Amino acid sequence: MLTFLGACKKVSRRKGETASRSPRSNGYTPKNPKNMVGPKAAKTPQNKNVSVLGIKPEQEPKTMKKTVLAFSRITPPMIENLQQEFDVIVPNPKAGDINAQFNEALPHAHGLIGVGRKLGRTQLENAAKLEVVSSVSVGYDNYDLAYFNERGIMLTNTPDVLTESTADLAFALIMSSARRVAELDAWTKAGQWQASVGAPLFGCDVHGKTLGIVGMGNIGAAVARRGHFGFNMPIIYSGNSRKTDLEQQLGAQFRSLDELLAEADFVCLVVPLSDKTRHLISHRELALMKPGAILVNISRGPVVDEPALIEALQNKRIRGAGLDVYEKEPLAESPLFQLSNAVTLPHIGSATNETREAMANRALANLRSALLGERPQDLVNPQVWRG
Ligand code: DGY
Repeated sequence: MLTFLGACKKVSRRKGETASRSPRSNGYTPKNPKNMVGPKAAKTPQNKNVSVLGIKPEQEPKTMKKTVLAFSRITPPMIENLQQEFDVIVPNPKAGDINAQFNEALPHAHGLIGVGRKLGRTQLENAAKLEVVSSVSVGYDNYDLAYFNERGIMLTNTPDVLTESTADLAFALIMSSARRVAELDAWTKAGQWQASVGAPLFGCDVHGKTLGIVGMGNIGAAVARRGHFGFNMPIIYSGNSRKTDLEQQLGAQFRSLDELLAEADFVCLVVPLSDKTRHLISHRELALMKPGAILVNISRGPVVDEPALIEALQNKRIRGAGLDVYEKEPLAESPLFQLSNAVTLPHIGSATNETREAMANRALANLRSALLGERPQDLVNPQVWRG
């Protein structure tokens, strides 16, 4: 049976029943309109079985299944899979305000799965049953971990599966910024190619230049490997700890942040966002960089003081920037859009079909474990585990 819960859809189907995917939404529409609630619903006795958000708890149908609120990045086949063990609520963009639907469903949810929502005390105060938030991301700066710990809510993320794709994108930004790929693509398509390109449109080499990695975690190391093996780049890095294995494998050399900024031709930011890394790169740090250097940010926007960066790019204090992340996302308008020395991408580090599917599957496995009483593989806050 597939039912709509108020504005949301609550999906709970018997073996053998099928649902078809709505052509314009990520959610489901029931094959049988008799199972819908709302203006389009057929007035049949079957509708007596539906549950509607807003009813008093004692009126709710008794179910042994836990409830999952799947708010983003979960595909219809994955939802079908989840339905075998859980009742699933999927906010439906076509059914109105998505935030209202999310808030309406929250009190029913034992588990949340998705990404892109700030979740803390204010947002979760009505989520009385909540046991786990399974984030479809490696970064978890959107979540108030102290509050999760206070409430005993598990938080899981999706490390490893996006490492290589995100490192690929770092290199796309390095190459695009250095060789002016995006800028010259637009220039060519605008019909400006009248004669052989001259020095004003030349870029700079990547191979053999010094690559500075700020934050040598898994993704940082994957970027460094590309630089070392693919482009013969000397690698320098800064961070909280020395990585002697990478020093041996890649000849990487440890530097303080200031030393790295002064020495690198490409500075690649791969640190998680925290109170320590917020505005790690501001006026002072940009002033330390070489005039010919390029800043690449694939971590989180607030790691860079964006107005300071814009000023440095406008004044050609540094050569350029390759950006996938911003202080405020989505970036609707910005002085960056007027700058030919800034490559701006819409936070697509992990956005390949293969990687997004792998992330969603990893998040599903974490959610499932948590709700079925097994320790999830990627538990961010093990202190709340009561297993
Ligand atoms: C992450 O996983 O943290 C990426 O930024 C994708 O959204």
